[in-house]
Amino acid sequence: MSRVALVTGGSRGIGEAISKKLKADGYTVAATYAGNDEAAAKFTEETGIATYKWNVADYDASAEGLAKVEADLGPIEVVVANAGITRDAPFHRMSPEQWNEVIGTNLTGVFNTVHPVWNGMRERGFGRVVVISSINGQKGQFGQVNYAATKAGDLGIVKSLAQEGAAKGITANAVCPGYIGTEMVRAIPEKVLNEKIIPQIPAGRLGEPEEIARCVAFLVSDDAGFINGSTISANGAQFFV
Ligand code: CAA
Repeated sequence: MSRVALVTGGSRGIGEAISKKLKADGYTVAATYAGNDEAAAKFTEETGIATYKWNVADYDASAEGLAKVEADLGPIEVVVANAGITRDAPFHRMSPEQWNEVIGTNLTGVFNTVHPVWNGMRERGFGRVVVISSINGQKGQFGQVNYAATKAGDLGIVKSLAQEGAAKGITANAVCPGYIGTEMVRAIPEKVLNEKIIPQIPAGRLGEPEEIARCVAFLVSDDAGFINGSTISANGAQFFV
């Protein structure tokens, strides 16, 4: 039987590419989304991948949603915590709402996604957790005190989960994408993207969502069983840890 993989934020952007790649690799995939019903319906129609709607920032909604996925598809053995938002602003103009929204989705959202399925993974002696962090959690970014804090925090989560899960056959790793050609990056003011960001990418281009999806597919595979607590950076040589 194929393994069940859950991808949060899995119907758009990098998450969409991850969902499609895992399906192509033989997983039964469930993709979650927060609000865009139209995009999710189109995604399901095109891919045949089931979509589920809940807010990852809400623990009870996450636990309830994850239980529904398991009732429909079977135990979740692979979790890709990908859902993320930006609320960029220079720190002197960043509001508490902008801080809290990003912390809720990008950081607490990872806890809320992994925690309800963790005991099942421990009991079954197998699990794969991948968190999509970011280059900006590694290096910081002008205008992203909130986002960089969450993405750095995500790395702390996987390093700790790796130590707790290793003896139970569970791995937890992170992927740190650089600037990838998704809606999130295309929302950056064009002048900032062209003058401040792209010139800092030695590859001279944005990454493709599929380039991140292939990293995830490797980390969740049986071949990657001894890779635990690691970070794969895929950023076109923009930054080295
Ligand atoms: N480094 C240095 N200075 C910068 C800068 C940078 N990266 N970005 C902006 N500035 C400067 C501008 O040049 C400008 O300076 P002057 O006033 O002297 O001209 C000043 O800061 C204000 O910039 P804006 O006119 O852009 O001001 P704003 O208030 O309209 O916007 C901002 C500020 C929201 C931070 C905007 O600059 C922005 O969106 N920057 C991009 C932030 C970014 O990289 N976000 C990543 C999103 S994608 C993502 O998060 C995915 C991922 O994981 C990689």
